[in-house]
Amino acid sequence: MRKVYIYKGFERLWHWTQASLIMFLAVTGFEVHGSYSIFGFEKATEYHRVASWMLIGLLIFAIFWHLTTGEWRQYIPTTKQLKEQIQFYISGIFKGEHHPTQKSELSKLNPLQRLVYLGFKIILIPLTTTSGILYMLYKTIDENNLIVIEDYPLASIAFWHTMGAILLMIFLVVHVYMTTTGKTPTSNINAMITGYEELEENENENIQNHETK
Ligand code: HEM
Repeated sequence: MRKVYIYKGFERLWHWTQASLIMFLAVTGFEVHGSYSIFGFEKATEYHRVASWMLIGLLIFAIFWHLTTGEWRQYIPTTKQLKEQIQFYISGIFKGEHHPTQKSELSKLNPLQRLVYLGFKIILIPLTTTSGILYMLYKTIDENNLIVIEDYPLASIAFWHTMGAILLMIFLVVHVYMTTTGKTPTSNINAMITGYEELEENENENIQNHETK
């Protein structure tokens, strides 16, 4: 076994900050929606707006980081071993079989993760943020009595925003379950905290030049 540096400092900071903000936005958002009362409607609305600006700021940094480091390549979808990976999660995992794909610093994501995370980045996050921004603009327009964009129905913005929020929550539950399916139930989560993961020697032959830092 060898300790390999998988997740960089910014990546870990971005991951946990994004996770916390999304969970906080869910708690405040569903309060705005009327599902329960924790902070009270006024405060929940205010907190939701502050957190949403923080998320927008974080996303801008994350996009910049992905583009400048070339890490966006990790998400290029592939069908190679996709079927095997799906079969592993459906049955192999319960029979104690080995993972069909091997993780390395150069290829952190298996084919299924590539697809799911790509969808998260280019569909789910844009759906929720764009509808959230339109929601925000709508209110601003309303409050100032200043019409910049007219004729977009609030009901459909609210629908798509809530839909995005529900899908994000489903993603979160599946994602947390999937993180426990590594070598040990906590090895993936530990890697996202410390940056390092223990990989078998032969799992890593394609990263000979990327020794533990
Ligand atoms: C940049 C991201 C986001 C922006 C700009 C945003 C903005 C907004 C705005 C403006 C509202 C209406 C309440 C108000 O007037 O303040 C709202 C409602 C809501 N938000 Fe967000 N939001 C964002 C992200 C999220 C996320 C990540 C979630 C959940 C995971 C979420 C869940 C909700 C829910 C459930 C509502 C209530 C919708 C309704 O019933 O009409 N939002 N959001």
